[in-house]
Amino acid sequence: MKILILGGDGYLGWPTAMHFAAAGDTVWVADNFAKRKWELEDGIEPLLAIPTLHRRVQCWNEVGGGQPINMKIGDLTNHRFVYNLLREIQPDAIVHYAEQPSAPYSMQNRSAAVMTQHNNVIGNLNLMFAMQAHCPDAHLIKLGTMGEYGTPNIDIEEGWLEVEHNGRKDRVLYPKKPGSFYHLSKVHDSHNIEFACRIWGMRATDLNQGVVYGIDTDQTQLADELRTSFHYDHVFGTVLNRFLVQAVAGLPLTVYGKGGQTRGFLNIRDTLACVDIAARNPADRGDFRIFNQFTEQFSVSQLADMVVAAGQRAGLSVAVENLENPRVEQEEHYYNAKNTALTDLGLQPNLLTEEVVDAMLATVRGQAGRVDPRIIAPQIRWAGGEVSKADT
Ligand SMILES: NC(=O)c1ccc[n+]([C@@H]2O[C@H](COP(=O)([O-])OP(=O)(O)OC[C@H]3O[C@@H](n4cnc5c(N)ncnc54)[C@H](O)[C@@H]3O)[C@@H](O)[C@H]2O)c1
Repeated sequence: MKILILGGDGYLGWPTAMHFAAAGDTVWVADNFAKRKWELEDGIEPLLAIPTLHRRVQCWNEVGGGQPINMKIGDLTNHRFVYNLLREIQPDAIVHYAEQPSAPYSMQNRSAAVMTQHNNVIGNLNLMFAMQAHCPDAHLIKLGTMGEYGTPNIDIEEGWLEVEHNGRKDRVLYPKKPGSFYHLSKVHDSHNIEFACRIWGMRATDLNQGVVYGIDTDQTQLADELRTSFHYDHVFGTVLNRFLVQAVAGLPLTVYGKGGQTRGFLNIRDTLACVDIAARNPADRGDFRIFNQFTEQFSVSQLADMVVAAGQRAGLSVAVENLENPRVEQEEHYYNAKNTALTDLGLQPNLLTEEVVDAMLATVRGQAGRVDPRIIAPQIRWAGGEVSKADT
């Protein structure tokens, strides 16, 4: 398979590229390094130092042992770049990770919200049109998020809902109630892709992914230079990463609000497995296929308890502190999301066992000297609509 990974310098994109190269597929990655710029703007660094993409590709091609990885540098919001990319590569499958991925980032101010939606929605539209022009039979595998659904008081189906209204029945896209301008950008993407499938006969899989945790995959472990990014800061850090770093740094685990916020989670190894399953079982022409990509549900408080217990096993004394919630979200709610499509296609989940938490804690402990405690406390509030400095 010829596969193009968009966002190939990112947390998920880089391990995905190595995964397919190790499996013998022909792999291209593309990225514009926007994430590295956004990190610099907020004075944020990942916990583990990440070499340049050029260096990582070179390292993989020397020691990886699979197919070489090919690289293109460019911005998806530049349609000429995207058209040229697809005309040259003619991929069978495209994995689209290349978006601004942070809810807090998008909630900072007007310009961050506008940039997020422009980057994500226009980049995705350019991709759809370029596919239609140069590789209309290719399979688009698009990373969406479980956050598109929000926390409705009914079961969350896999993308579609059968409804009966005034005696008539239809199948409609599941109603979305997202919690940030970032999550909204993914909803807009989903609607645009569904339209392209219905009108152009595009084939697409929308992976509504839960929160990913984990650092290691089979390929990242081959060499230090092949590692992927691990964020624990208040902008890009996800909750389990942040708790592990706080535990190691001797800081209390900061639970936002009551801690009953429940979400779907999955191991980074399962992200690779799910994308692999989607790529090797493509959607039919005209099919907008939606998979809920997570393996377990946890509340924030449950995760905090797991890290406290891991800390105890490692001889660390870990406290928990409930902070005033910087977000506007339900802190106690019903949550029951379906996730059978990927397991029906063969996914065998790597669950969040004590061993997995202990291994992550040990890795973080090995980097304790690099922790910057100033970038952990939340600084972005959902309510208030702060005005961007650039706008005043
Ligand atoms: N990490 C998670 O827990 C998680 C959960 C659900 C969904 N997702 C989605 O998965 C995707 C990948 O997430 P990630 O954590 O690897 O994020 P990431 O920020 O590490 O990777 C995204 C990459 O895309 C690049 N990019 C962004 N805009 C671009 C553009 N216009 N042109 C070219 N490249 C561009 C960035 O430079 C970055 O390297 C994102 O779409 C994210 O929304 C991630």
